[in-house]
Amino acid sequence: MTEVADISRPARKVTRLADLTPSQIEAIRKIPAEKDAVLVPFTATRSNAIFTGQERFDLEQARIFRRFPVPVMLSALLEPGSVVASDSYGLPLLIARTRDGTIRAFVNACQHKGAKLIEDCAVHKQGRLTCPYHAWTYGLDGKLIGVARSEAFEDFDKGTRGLAELEAREWGGVVYVQLNRDIAADWSQLSQQVADDFTALGLPTAHVHGRKTFDLAANWKVVLEPFLEGYHVQRLHAASIGDRFQDAPNIVDMFGPNIRQVSGRIGYVPEMLDEDPASNVHKLVTHAYTAFPNCVVVTSQYYTSVMLLVPRAPGRTIVEYFMLTPEAASTPKAEEVFARSYEMILAVFGGEDFRAAEISQQGLEAGVPQETIYCGLEANIVRYYEAIEALL
Ligand code: FES
Ligand SMILES: [Fe+2]
Repeated sequence: MTEVADISRPARKVTRLADLTPSQIEAIRKIPAEKDAVLVPFTATRSNAIFTGQERFDLEQARIFRRFPVPVMLSALLEPGSVVASDSYGLPLLIARTRDGTIRAFVNACQHKGAKLIEDCAVHKQGRLTCPYHAWTYGLDGKLIGVARSEAFEDFDKGTRGLAELEAREWGGVVYVQLNRDIAADWSQLSQQVADDFTALGLPTAHVHGRKTFDLAANWKVVLEPFLEGYHVQRLHAASIGDRFQDAPNIVDMFGPNIRQVSGRIGYVPEMLDEDPASNVHKLVTHAYTAFPNCVVVTSQYYTSVMLLVPRAPGRTIVEYFMLTPEAASTPKAEEVFARSYEMILAVFGGEDFRAAEISQQGLEAGVPQETIYCGLEANIVRYYEAIEALL
């Protein structure tokens, strides 16, 4: 596969070491040269049932995905006065940004008879939402502002029939929504450090170059695992990106149930960090986050990938993939570079990582192995599972 990094690059904004948070910089400075990396042998196992069983799936839904706020969209997609629908979680949602910049989330259902107000997944720049059925109209703040032939209703109070609202917050450029309207949102599992890190990586202000939805025949944890370990990279990705990454343990920090991993690219030695303070830090290191519970952020040299891994059944996951660039391409050359990067990353994540997840799920559903086994290059998976299990 073409190494996009070899294409001569247009001048554009990059992330320098000094742009990062003190916590990110401290972690990066701990990365040893590849030859000095210490691999600690480790073994842990997990039962097959956590990937295939309905009981575990239902427990995760009740104790995590319908209890805590979950990531549903990216801030960067929504400029003031725009709205987007999402059905990924199996619940029709609308995410809007009002003209004053506030994010609001609603059930995508008209208060007349429940019709969806927006049926596609495109971002709509519009100040109001009109139901396709009888044309009731709502503001982006959810207020019912217009009812066709309202005189036909007796004693009708528009003020009581606004859209059903869900609690929503932006968290380092990721929009989190509390799906369960019966309980107040508990934001305690999210990490301010991770939000600060994401902001330093430019997530809230990025340009969304591309987004794609994958419907995968695999458990969401099976889809997540490759983003928590470096063991597979030189092997599964041997024909694509495998030769760019060290086969060594990452520097890992946990913030509650959130994981930050940072690793040196191939040939990294710590002295490189201070050679040119103006240079792109992501030429040297890669960040990979798992933000609770199911948001993966991976940096590449010239773009950042964000993925929402949404569990829909024990063996089914919807992945919302977003490729972010610091700004929109301003030249045909930049456009070409972004387009090739997008094609490449979809081929790597889609054709390699997601494929690995789907072929693993087939074995797991055949009952083999009865328990999965993790080594010292996969210890982050186990750390993350421990954090999740503490909530179940
Ligand atoms: S269902 Fe929306 S206006 Fe009737
Ligand atoms: Fe991978």
